[in-house]
Amino acid sequence: MSRKGAPDCWKLGILFSETGVTAVIEQSQKNGALLAIEEVNRRGGVAGRPIVPVSYDPGSIPAEYGRLAEKLIVEDSVSVIAGCYMSSARKEVLPVVERRNALFFYPTLYEGFEYSPNVIYGGACPNQNSVPLASYLLENYGRRVYFVGSDYIYPLESNRVMRNILRQGGGEVVGERYLPFSADATAFNAIIDEIAELKPDAIFSTLVGEATIDFYTAYHEAGHDARKVPIASLTTNEAEICRIGAKAAVGHITAAPYFRTIDTPESRRFLDSYAAMFGSDELVTSCCEAAYFQVHMFAEALEHERLLDIARLRETLLGASYDAPQGMIKIDPDNSHTYLHSRIAKVDENGDFIVEREVRRPIKPDPYLVAPDLNDHRFRLMETPQFVRSIKR
Ligand code: ACM
Repeated sequence: MSRKGAPDCWKLGILFSETGVTAVIEQSQKNGALLAIEEVNRRGGVAGRPIVPVSYDPGSIPAEYGRLAEKLIVEDSVSVIAGCYMSSARKEVLPVVERRNALFFYPTLYEGFEYSPNVIYGGACPNQNSVPLASYLLENYGRRVYFVGSDYIYPLESNRVMRNILRQGGGEVVGERYLPFSADATAFNAIIDEIAELKPDAIFSTLVGEATIDFYTAYHEAGHDARKVPIASLTTNEAEICRIGAKAAVGHITAAPYFRTIDTPESRRFLDSYAAMFGSDELVTSCCEAAYFQVHMFAEALEHERLLDIARLRETLLGASYDAPQGMIKIDPDNSHTYLHSRIAKVDENGDFIVEREVRRPIKPDPYLVAPDLNDHRFRLMETPQFVRSIKR
């Protein structure tokens, strides 16, 4: 759905994959970005001009994101891009947007330990998702955790952080395995055998995309009961659960700022608008929501500046807040990351995420994890109020 903008429009580069191993989640992010563009244009655009997406499919190949970011900036004259899921893809785009001085919106949870003046980070970093999840697992399942992940920077780095957080809370990592993207479904058999032998209290998965579907399916087929030993993750969203199926997914746990089952007016309006554009809200994920609110925040900043001036847009964005489907959020002027809500949800027998715990207020991003204190009152998980637990159907 690539479209070159006419001069009387605002171009926005879109780099999400519709093919390859992470298409399952990136398609939801792309839809979130396109929905926000559609909503802005429906009410007259920005300063009377529509936002026009200029989009390419990088095929889930990290180097392609870098090449296509360069193409967007140089050939399509785009100066603002939203895109990327995998951190390996973001690392390819980073030097391009810095060298060309473009603005890059990244709507995905990641491992932290990064700052670029050219990036606005819209996904959670470890103090906003790993810390609350570790606290929940230690409190509800036990001390012994097994790590399984895809073999690239995000799982390796975020597990380094998760290991420290668990240790701080008295936990231990009893096993750790990484699989290449080329691994087929049978590659999980050895991991499933090792889990049966080591008997952890919980599994922490940093697998992404297709591998998630293969692993959860293999775990279920091997007879493991998720209600006793769940797979907990930050990267298993509604889109993956939809592919895994309710039977194999029930009992597993995910921490994220947003779940599609949150029954608030802002979330309902977002889901209705999404379903009107795409036919169903089944595949809405927290990464889709992040792409959605980031594009809306870009449009608001552009409305303010009325100019695609990167320095001025950035100045306007830093400190800006937005009433997102997850609740009120704000871009932290200290580090260009976003204050986000933190929720822990479990999959029920219908395949829906039911929020079990949440932190009361949005958490300030701490990408360098300066204060990873499990007892910090700001991370205290509250029993979720009834109105949040009810499911929208
Ligand atoms: C990720 O690679 N940041 C999920």
